[in-house]
Amino acid sequence: MQSGEQPGWSPDPVAPGPDPHEVPTSWFNIVPNLPAPLPPARDPEDGKGSRLEVQNRIRLDAMRTQDAATDSFLPIPERVREELAGLGRPTPLLRARALEEYLGTPARIYLKREDVLPTGSFKLNSAVTQAYFAARQGVGTLVTETGAGQWGHAVAWAARRFGLRAIVFWAGISARQKPGRHTVIEMLGAQVHPSPSELTAPGKALLRDGRHALGSLGTAIGEAISYAAEHPETRYISGSNLPHVLAHQTVIGQEVKTQLDALGERVDTLIACVGGGSNLGGLMGPFLADKAERGDGLRLLGAESAAAPRLTRGQWRYDHADPEGVTPLSKSYTLGRDYELPETHVGGLRQHSGSSVIGVLRQQGLLDAVAYDEGEAFDTGRTVLRTEGMLIAPESCHAVRAAVEEAVRARETGTAKTIVACVSGNGALDLDGYTAHYGGRAAHA
Ligand SMILES: Cc1ncc(COP(=O)(O)O)c(C=O)c1O
Repeated sequence: MQSGEQPGWSPDPVAPGPDPHEVPTSWFNIVPNLPAPLPPARDPEDGKGSRLEVQNRIRLDAMRTQDAATDSFLPIPERVREELAGLGRPTPLLRARALEEYLGTPARIYLKREDVLPTGSFKLNSAVTQAYFAARQGVGTLVTETGAGQWGHAVAWAARRFGLRAIVFWAGISARQKPGRHTVIEMLGAQVHPSPSELTAPGKALLRDGRHALGSLGTAIGEAISYAAEHPETRYISGSNLPHVLAHQTVIGQEVKTQLDALGERVDTLIACVGGGSNLGGLMGPFLADKAERGDGLRLLGAESAAAPRLTRGQWRYDHADPEGVTPLSKSYTLGRDYELPETHVGGLRQHSGSSVIGVLRQQGLLDAVAYDEGEAFDTGRTVLRTEGMLIAPESCHAVRAAVEEAVRARETGTAKTIVACVSGNGALDLDGYTAHYGGRAAHA
């Protein structure tokens, strides 16, 4: 009892607690709903051992089961629904009226606000889920990679929530660009290793010959897998690319459907930025049946970084997801594992290959794609800040840039279309990127 309270006095809470029943009851499983079969991952014939066997050994049981599932809907455990509700799901669907006014467009722009989740991004949806399954399996330590740091941040918190340890290999360039996020991840108790590192064989090999010295999501993936393979007490978890991660993110698209229905809206264009494809898959997966029915009447658009233009300029072929070939071969749009990704402040979209699931959507002609350079993305971030007052993550700026261009086209043709873009993350801990871009010129540029 607090001092000053009267015995027997128990006021009603001011507001009801989170209602887990507003959180979807199932994840949507995209794979069995694709218009063509998912090309299976396979081993290379290089005599260096089975990567598939390693991958199976180091992953969580439940994730393997989810990837193999053929049902369209996978039930979300009640505890996970409660966690998601506690984090603030459903997240708001904001009508960006100030942005519309600024653009002078008849289009209605809706922003799905994943940036309001406590660690600052949609990544928390899958991090909490995977930490829950790890704890249930009796695993004590999770090993993972991160590009922008948002996934590492989410895993660090989710691991703490479920009493687990977390080890995060972080694309070196991004870790160095973001000392603030680095501090926060360590404050949460996770161990952080900028990649390439001296801790693993693939990291050492890259450091030795100076390849991929900046690090990337790919170098970090290779190191995380290699570390987990050598530490049997750990399990490796992924924050993108794989079918189960995309499924976990479909709470986003399911909520958007419900929210649009409540507003009496029908969406014409769905937009997400695309790195490993999980916020895109999560937003668009639940709309695949609508896409099948409406064809060109519903546009699905992925916005990528011109620094890693896989969907717009890559090849649809088998490749490793890491430069050293620690991962199995999977089919996706790729720039090639030897491609040295340039320095950019868009770490979450900076990888040479991607998701097979997203690749099938693209290959089958369901997904359009556009690429923006960093300057275009940051300028959109500044426009969103000036109009809506929110500072969004550099990755999310790509999605909103595409929404702005759609809205400008709608102005030119006088079409009152409805656009939904996913704001995948908050930009406060990416402020160093904005600072590097604008320097002292932010007010005038
Ligand atoms: C804020 C943000 N948005 C988007 C992404 C891209 O991930 P995905 O393509 O899996 O949605 C990342 C990845 O780190 C991110 O941090």
